[in-house]
Amino acid sequence: MKFGYFDDKALEYVITTPKTPLPWINYLGNKEFFSLISNTCGGYTFYKDAKLLRLTRYRYNNVPYDNNGKYFYIKDGDTIWNPGWQPVKTALDSYECRHGLGYSTWTSSKNDVEAKVLTFVPMEDNCEISKVTLTNNKKTDAKVTLFSYVEWCLWNADDDMKNFQRNLSTGEVEVTDGGSVIYHKTEYRERRNHYAIYGVNTKVDGFDTSRDDFLGAYNGPDSPDAVAAGKCTGSVASGWSPIAAHQIDVELKAGESKTFIFTLGYIENPEDDKWEAPSVVNKKPAVAMLAKYNTEAAVDEALDVLKKYWNELLSIYHVSSSNEKVDRMVNIWNQYQCMVTFNMSRSASYYESGIGRGMGFRDSCQDLLGFVHLIPDRARQRIIDIASTQFQDGSAYHQYQPLTKKGNSDIGSGFNDDPLWLIAGTSAYIRETGDLSILKEMVPFDNDMSVAKTLMDHLKCSFNFTATHKGPHGLPLIGRADWNDCLNLNCFSEHPGESFQTFGPSEGPVAESVFIAGMFVKYGEEYAQLAELLGDNAEAERARAEVKKVYEAAITAGWDGEWFVRAYDANSNKVGSKECEEGQIYIEPQGFCVLAGIGIEEGLAEKALKSVEEKLDTKYGIMILQPAYTKYHLELGEVSSYPPGYKENAGIFCHNNPWVSIAETVVGHGNRAFDIYRKTCPAYVEEFSEIHATEPYVYSQMVAGRDAKFHGQGKNSWLTGTAAWTFVNISQYILGVYPTHNGLSINPCVPEDFGDFQITRKYRGATYNISVKQNGAQKGIKSLTVNGKAVEGNVIPYEEGVKEYTVEAVLG
Ligand code: GLC
Ligand code: GLC
Repeated sequence: MKFGYFDDKALEYVITTPKTPLPWINYLGNKEFFSLISNTCGGYTFYKDAKLLRLTRYRYNNVPYDNNGKYFYIKDGDTIWNPGWQPVKTALDSYECRHGLGYSTWTSSKNDVEAKVLTFVPMEDNCEISKVTLTNNKKTDAKVTLFSYVEWCLWNADDDMKNFQRNLSTGEVEVTDGGSVIYHKTEYRERRNHYAIYGVNTKVDGFDTSRDDFLGAYNGPDSPDAVAAGKCTGSVASGWSPIAAHQIDVELKAGESKTFIFTLGYIENPEDDKWEAPSVVNKKPAVAMLAKYNTEAAVDEALDVLKKYWNELLSIYHVSSSNEKVDRMVNIWNQYQCMVTFNMSRSASYYESGIGRGMGFRDSCQDLLGFVHLIPDRARQRIIDIASTQFQDGSAYHQYQPLTKKGNSDIGSGFNDDPLWLIAGTSAYIRETGDLSILKEMVPFDNDMSVAKTLMDHLKCSFNFTATHKGPHGLPLIGRADWNDCLNLNCFSEHPGESFQTFGPSEGPVAESVFIAGMFVKYGEEYAQLAELLGDNAEAERARAEVKKVYEAAITAGWDGEWFVRAYDANSNKVGSKECEEGQIYIEPQGFCVLAGIGIEEGLAEKALKSVEEKLDTKYGIMILQPAYTKYHLELGEVSSYPPGYKENAGIFCHNNPWVSIAETVVGHGNRAFDIYRKTCPAYVEEFSEIHATEPYVYSQMVAGRDAKFHGQGKNSWLTGTAAWTFVNISQYILGVYPTHNGLSINPCVPEDFGDFQITRKYRGATYNISVKQNGAQKGIKSLTVNGKAVEGNVIPYEEGVKEYTVEAVLG
């Protein structure tokens, strides 16, 4: 069952009922100012950092779901309704929400009054614009009242929901232009030099800035007293909970429309220019912002700029095949989600509160893999930022705060896969751009510039960290955990409330990870290639020798007979082995070792993949492990803490499904690779949205596994490494256009009935028009022709000055 449909031409998902199984959200903002907005207008706004600079208040864990947002109320006689249905939930005569790339719209009607709301964050400014158009479709003149409503957050979202003894006394506002512009200036008198505004481009008939006056004490946003009365109270908040609400009485002739533009903005003033008079904030920049967007033409133009921006980005990789679902994901939604995960990391979603984790070291490095072709400059900066939180021994803070860019010492380090992801991200950046200069940038350790070294030295530290932290079987030590945050082999936590992520020693001399071995083989080779590019052949040779040792360990101690072992625990017992009672096989080492090339020659790779298919596959995707842990294993940690079928305990953790799909392409199984891709692919999943529940246009982190009561149900949508890895999978391995240091390589691996397809790829300043004749083959290039000339192998040779490449690849 579906709750909407894809409008590919408009690059939109159209939601046709407000009663989706869960809130279906969108992200507004591309650079520093962001909003989350649901299909019923719930959500919130922040500047740069969802924890420290939150503009509007949101209540997680609320009932009903998702009931604080930026609302418009329409009072038409005795009927009060919202274009997004919430919070009043008056039944609407029509409702449609369109989530587009960086904007959302609602078109709803009640009793022959239509409201159209367009909301977006313009490219150039730190504000969210809402254009509200009311149309009178009655046969008679109409008088309606339009109310706006936002509730301010007192900036630090964490403190805002805890520190009431202080916060209920600090709220301050100013009101100008008869109530049209409301300034939220809490804490501006002391250490802040920023405030927020909510303004409308018209004279208003009333306003409120005190929540209790607007709603009425004991009321929620579903029943504001002021709206019921048809009149705001003119309250000026002093402490308690400041809000911004406007009241506009609108007279509409039959058939007439009127449009109002609301601007929710963030303003920073220079430290020495904060005030225009004692206690009166300097409003110049706010006034300028409001003036910029006070006409429909200006708003439409800003939306146009945003749309052009996205069209340009999406022209960098574009496929046209006979499979509309693949085209839709590759050309629109998967790339869009990659951008969002790059911007947000794991900070702010409807499942990540925005006050917990900042940017993850491994998460951000992986997000980059799916994003680097879009905006390489920002990827470059991100790499430097991430590397700056690394320690001199190569280990790294697991997370950092986006605003300060400093490592987060609450969680610290000790996740032993982290260092290698830095190599992955840097290598992807250089393969995309050819920009070797980044390797020579001086980058601090732990943000201390006095001990800065080049980025290449950082990568060397990463590489050496793994090479010098090995356990009894010559496999890499796992530390607190590797990619699987819940495999806590040195933790031994017995008391509730101890964080699995930080409890116990960060190091253990025994517990080892076969997954990190796979990473080391893959990214160790990529490191060696970077050394060669810098002319350091000795280092490349040394690296390959180290890689070889770990490779050997992986195919011996890391092999269990039919699949790769997952790890060795602190007592050197196997994890993920037929010897285990539960958790006999894990997905991660099968996918990652094979995609790294381990065990292909030895015939182990095919076996491992076959075991995955036999033991872990379901119709909704591949589970992370089997059999699920039915009891808590002290020696394994959080992985065994989840009820069977959820999260890391035998859930379908979508992030690692593409690893197996990629592995299948490496061994040439196009049918199977695509089958895996299809199972978690949103455009396919859309068909059973009532089961899947989360948004059908983006990936979720997890889908409940076979052991769970709600098998097939998604959770934790949007912010997941799944976005980047599935894009890498479909674009670079299945469709097969992979950037190498020497140019684009063409090596598709598709199902035999996929058909011919064309790809446009912009790469290093040139446009590649690639057409692939499939010939019924799953993999293997029979011939490659570039600008009319036959080429040996898979890589399109780069020719100085050539801006257009016409490429014909024939499989067979
Ligand atoms: C979450 C984390 C990610 C981790 C994964 C598996 O998605 O963000 O860092 O690798 O879970 O535990
Ligand atoms: C929990 C989650 C895991 C996530 C981690 C982040 O362990 O199960 O997915 O990566 O928290 O802190």
